[in-house]
Amino acid sequence: MMHERISTIPSNPIFRADDLEVTYRSSRGPTKALEHFSTTLAKGEFLSILGPSGCGKSTLLKVAAGLLLPSSGVVELDGHPITGPRRDVGIVFQQATLLPWRTVLDNVMLPIRTLGMDAKAGLIRARSLLHLMGLENFERHYPHELSGGMQQRVGIARGLVHDPSLLLMDEPFAALDAMTREHMMVELQRIWMEARKSVIFITHSIPEAVFLSTRVLVLSPRPARIIKDVAIDLPLPRTQETLASPHFGEICGELRAMFSHDRK
Ligand SMILES: Nc1ncnc2c1ncn2[C@@H]1O[C@H](COP(=O)(O)OP(=O)(O)OP(=O)(O)O)[C@@H](O)[C@H]1O
Ligand SMILES: [Mg+2]
Repeated sequence: MMHERISTIPSNPIFRADDLEVTYRSSRGPTKALEHFSTTLAKGEFLSILGPSGCGKSTLLKVAAGLLLPSSGVVELDGHPITGPRRDVGIVFQQATLLPWRTVLDNVMLPIRTLGMDAKAGLIRARSLLHLMGLENFERHYPHELSGGMQQRVGIARGLVHDPSLLLMDEPFAALDAMTREHMMVELQRIWMEARKSVIFITHSIPEAVFLSTRVLVLSPRPARIIKDVAIDLPLPRTQETLASPHFGEICGELRAMFSHDRK
């Protein structure tokens, strides 16, 4: 069974949004992407966000990353208003957005350089993340020499290299093949559990969201509002057996039903 989350406010949320609204303005007129959006993320939570294409998920992540200012409402990290990018936040974009003139290793090292962190320690971490991503033999390659899925894995390594406490991930596994995707899912869970990170994870995959998350938000079509906030009570760590368990299938089924209901 899924449990509807009772809206208790955690004492020290790492992320908080209160009545958030984002309206894009262009010559073609305004587009409201988020509306009355309120939620909190407790430290250590793994929150996945599911919602129809174009509803406002990437918009939410950009606001959380400090790359986009909200039109109104409150957004806070660790109790402080978000006014720009922060060093304890890592972001993996929907597109890999690598610098084409830099090697794979230099792309992964970018946060270390821009944040002025210790280069030696950064290099060790960058190399171990590239190894984890199965890219140890591509350090000196340039992005155009890699496949889309490989570029995306470089983007994931870059998002993790400075060891951020909050990870914002926008469909990071979408470009990966099924086998790599399952492997990445297990690795991400391990990183999350070992380092006690907080994660906001956007995906279109219901099984991926259920496997990884302690909580799942389901968003409405644009402008995105929260239509469900569901705690996932599967025991941790989740494994191959979890994927095959009836309870896992049940939760996925209930979430899937929510979507088909929504479309009517
Ligand atoms: N820079 C922008 N200027 C104007 N409108 C924008 C801008 N970025 C996004 N939008 C609009 O805001 C809405 C939400 O976009 P967003 O990228 O947040 O959706 P999404 O939920 O991430 O979609 P997808 O699942 O396809 O990635 C869309 O209607 C989009 O056209
Ligand atoms: Mg998006």
